Amino acid sequence: MGWSIRRLNRAQAINGAKTYLEIGVETGVTFKGVTVERKDGVDPYFAFDPATLANDRVRLHALRSDAFWASDLPLAYDLIMLDGLHTFEQTFRDFLASLSHAHARTIWLIDDTVPSDVFSALPDHSQSMRHRQRMGIPGYAWHGDVFKLVLALHDFFPTLSYATIINSGNPQTLVWKEPRAGFEPVMNSLEQISRLSFFDIDAHVARFNLVDEETAFARLTAGFAKA
Ligand SMILES: C[S@@+](CC[C@H](N)C(=O)[O-])C[C@H]1O[C@@H](n2cnc3c(N)ncnc32)[C@H](O)[C@@H]1O
Repeated sequence: MGWSIRRLNRAQAINGAKTYLEIGVETGVTFKGVTVERKDGVDPYFAFDPATLANDRVRLHALRSDAFWASDLPLAYDLIMLDGLHTFEQTFRDFLASLSHAHARTIWLIDDTVPSDVFSALPDHSQSMRHRQRMGIPGYAWHGDVFKLVLALHDFFPTLSYATIINSGNPQTLVWKEPRAGFEPVMNSLEQISRLSFFDIDAHVARFNLVDEETAFARLTAGFAKA
């Protein structure tokens, strides 16, 4: 996961982040690599003993993200990584909840926003693995239907800008607060967005703002310069 650490630390260098939240921590490889002073990690099933990492600046919460958001634990965050349950509804809910704990210079990195194939885009993890195996296709890629979140961002968040990074690791979407020039909803329906499948992505691909890492960070930097 070198790309997540690289991108998050690059974002940190831009906004000087002092507080970081990671939803979905697993082994902690990214969490440990992020060079932010104050860190919160949330995962109901840490793949390591969270007590080995916790200290007065690092908190690890063995909770589902919904329980975390509904508690008095969340701080105000400068940098947020969403990489928990890979479904549209959960990631959208995490994103919405995070807005109450963000500010004008918060930067988000949302993982798994471009599925690699039709199996990876299934929202049910076990179904995704079962169908992939049944078709004899190797690998375990599971992005779920998080891609729908990008289309929801496009249509329902005129005050946010974003760019989806491709070609240098797993695609991820960088989001920041900057009013979007020429904002124009296209589908204008969360219900329609939620019903999309992998095969619909082509028709909507322009709205993912797919760019390389350099371009994504150049856009973020330019957006912050305007604020
Ligand atoms: C892909 S892994 C995270 C990888 C990690 N961010 C990294 O870069 O090293 C996804 C994690 O999300 C966790 N997860 C699943 N459902 C969750 C939920 N509702 N809230 C928070 N985390 C959840 C899983 O337990 C799993 O460890």
